[in-house]
Amino acid sequence: MVKCRICNADTELFLSLGDMPLANNFLNKKILEKINKGDEKEERYPLELFFCNNCGMVQIGELLPPQKLFINYIYLASNSETIKSHIALLVNRIMHNYLTSKDTMVVEIGSNTGHLLKLFKDNGIKVLGIEPAKNIAAIANRNGIETKSVFFNEKTAELAKKKHGMADVIIGRHVFAHIKDLDSSIKGARSLIGKNGVFIIEIPYLVDFLERNEFDTVYHEHLSYFSVKTLKFLFNKYDMEIVDVERALDIHGGSIVVYIKNKTSNAKISSRVSELIKLEKEKKLDDFKTYVDFADRVFKFKEKILNVLKDLKKQGNRICGYGAPAKSTTLLNYCGIGADLLDFVVDNTPTKQGLHLPGSHLLVCSDEHVLKKQPDYFLLLAWNFANEIIKKESEYIKRGGKFIVPIPDIHIVPS
Ligand code: TMP
Ligand code: ZN
Repeated sequence: MVKCRICNADTELFLSLGDMPLANNFLNKKILEKINKGDEKEERYPLELFFCNNCGMVQIGELLPPQKLFINYIYLASNSETIKSHIALLVNRIMHNYLTSKDTMVVEIGSNTGHLLKLFKDNGIKVLGIEPAKNIAAIANRNGIETKSVFFNEKTAELAKKKHGMADVIIGRHVFAHIKDLDSSIKGARSLIGKNGVFIIEIPYLVDFLERNEFDTVYHEHLSYFSVKTLKFLFNKYDMEIVDVERALDIHGGSIVVYIKNKTSNAKISSRVSELIKLEKEKKLDDFKTYVDFADRVFKFKEKILNVLKDLKKQGNRICGYGAPAKSTTLLNYCGIGADLLDFVVDNTPTKQGLHLPGSHLLVCSDEHVLKKQPDYFLLLAWNFANEIIKKESEYIKRGGKFIVPIPDIHIVPS
């Protein structure tokens, strides 16, 4: 029985995505050859989602050791325009609302190469990055953003406090749902922000996840799927409260930015918090049937996307994948899409190019191949950047190319 990681109640299984390779376990040529020869095995683990009837938590079942998952050497934070402009606006709002006094400090968890912290630093704010991947932390340090290569927890938070003092802001963008030891991280954040600081997390929003069928955002690194109501319950256990929440609909398929303070701060609470909790009630997020219906839609998605791809292929079309995000591993492997349907995938991340995708073993090529090879169709695996990518690839479309956008519903652009 899988216990809820927030309240320890028994949970209920509602979605099985099968035995799945690790989403960021890209393979180089040498390892792929060994796997093909049978000298090495590609690791696979069951990928299942559970719902807690008591507190509303949605979580994956099997938790692998963080060292296996998160010392992620290939994940370079996106240089997409969508994310960059979101971060710039977010930083401005944080400075305006939470960093009005002099001599302030911002700590970022999962700070990657330090892009967000640099914006604070350029405004004279002290910054400290926490980034477990050593090679990526090294890039940040070289760029002048002081970054510690450790996991964020109670112990490392204390060390940071001793060395750098209290933080006015701790921010974690798309890391909180990846944290295994919620207890230790929250205690660490609580102590580091003290009475007046704020803990800010940006996470995918469960409402958008369900409504837009974003099943492929489930992978072994993504442990928790939160509603505002469940987050409120979670932070309340630590005498903390959500003081504000913003929706960011165009970020990773729909995200929320949640602002959390110690209760002792007596901060004013935005009406947006209760408005979203009300929305979650209307969307029946506390009803198990909502999750069963979701799983049913996921199953139907698989049938439909396979039909679309097989029909196009039968008509003689050449199809490739666009983007090699972590979620492409889930979508391709759950649906059984491999080399019989796609020729290769393109991605603009240098650390991914030349490697092979987990499970499907499709080769990741640079995005120069879009026009070089001009396939008839691209399955848009990085669908969260649909607008940006389709705009950027106008020349490909002008020459007759089309995108198959899989999520939130399968459609072809231009139609
Ligand atoms: P993410 O959703 O985890 O940020 O991953 C998006 C992936 O898509 C990442 O590997 C980079 C890739 N990508 C491109 O190849 N071209 C683009 O224009 C954009 C925006 C992303
Ligand atoms: Zn629970």
